[in-house]
Amino acid sequence: MPRIAYVNGAYTPIEEARIHIEDRGYQFADGIYEVVLRVGGRYWDLDGHLKRWARSLRELEIRAPMSEAALRIIIDKLIEKNRLGDCAVYMQATRGVAARNHPFPPADTEPSLVMTARPINLEKLDAKAAKGISVITAPDIRWGRVDIKTVGLLPNCLAKEAAARAGAAEAWLVKEGKVTEGSSSNAWIVDEQGQLITHPLGAEILGGITRQTAIACAESLQMKVVERAFSVEEALGAREAFITSAMNLVTPVVSIDGRRIGEGAPGPVAARLRAAYVERCAAV
Ligand code: PDD
Repeated sequence: MPRIAYVNGAYTPIEEARIHIEDRGYQFADGIYEVVLRVGGRYWDLDGHLKRWARSLRELEIRAPMSEAALRIIIDKLIEKNRLGDCAVYMQATRGVAARNHPFPPADTEPSLVMTARPINLEKLDAKAAKGISVITAPDIRWGRVDIKTVGLLPNCLAKEAAARAGAAEAWLVKEGKVTEGSSSNAWIVDEQGQLITHPLGAEILGGITRQTAIACAESLQMKVVERAFSVEEALGAREAFITSAMNLVTPVVSIDGRRIGEGAPGPVAARLRAAYVERCAAV
């Protein structure tokens, strides 16, 4: 069955889907995106993702391509047309098409909207979590507004490629000695007291929707969450480490820069948090 994409009002086989070469997303990375999972017929944290979608658009003064209700209908339709079960939906909006010129185009320029969906295998994700992942550290060379989920991800791609070349699954980005977040995930550690530590919200990290739900899950499990920056040294001495993201849920980190974390195996805090996260998303 051909994969179907949604492109500016039409559902099209993905090979035939086309974007104008003067789309500002293509020329300036002038666009935003979201990734959301649907598992067992339920969307995981869709409200949160749509809220952040609207915020990203607002922050960049990009017109919303359509209402939230209309977006939800398109997401449903796209999954139906692709006859997908468990899947990840990618949605992207840009400021639209205009002759290349840095200032914003006229206010009546139509924003572009693209969506794709692909199957995910939860068992494979679980197997990855059961093993744990390795991460490397890399300098955080991104711009000053990474709280906006823009498609401008070149520094993230460079860091992820460096991780892949080192045989690791993720790169933790380091700014002034502190870990901000992963190249496509939020970064967490568990200290000696069993406290969960993750970078506070602000312009230096993307406020992950999974991070937010994981905080709620941790609190319901009576785990203490401290939102503060932590150093690489602290991470190396942590009892446990893990990442959160829509695609990884809660996934344990077993080594950083080749040095083992804790016992060098997934720890109990990450495992409990992952189970609670899955349970919460599956129940909503
Ligand atoms: N990335 N930080 C960065 C830099 C990210 O790119 C992501 C998500 C996250 C976690 O956000 P959330 O929990 O809302 O998925 C944090 C997506 C999945 C991606 O780029 O594919």
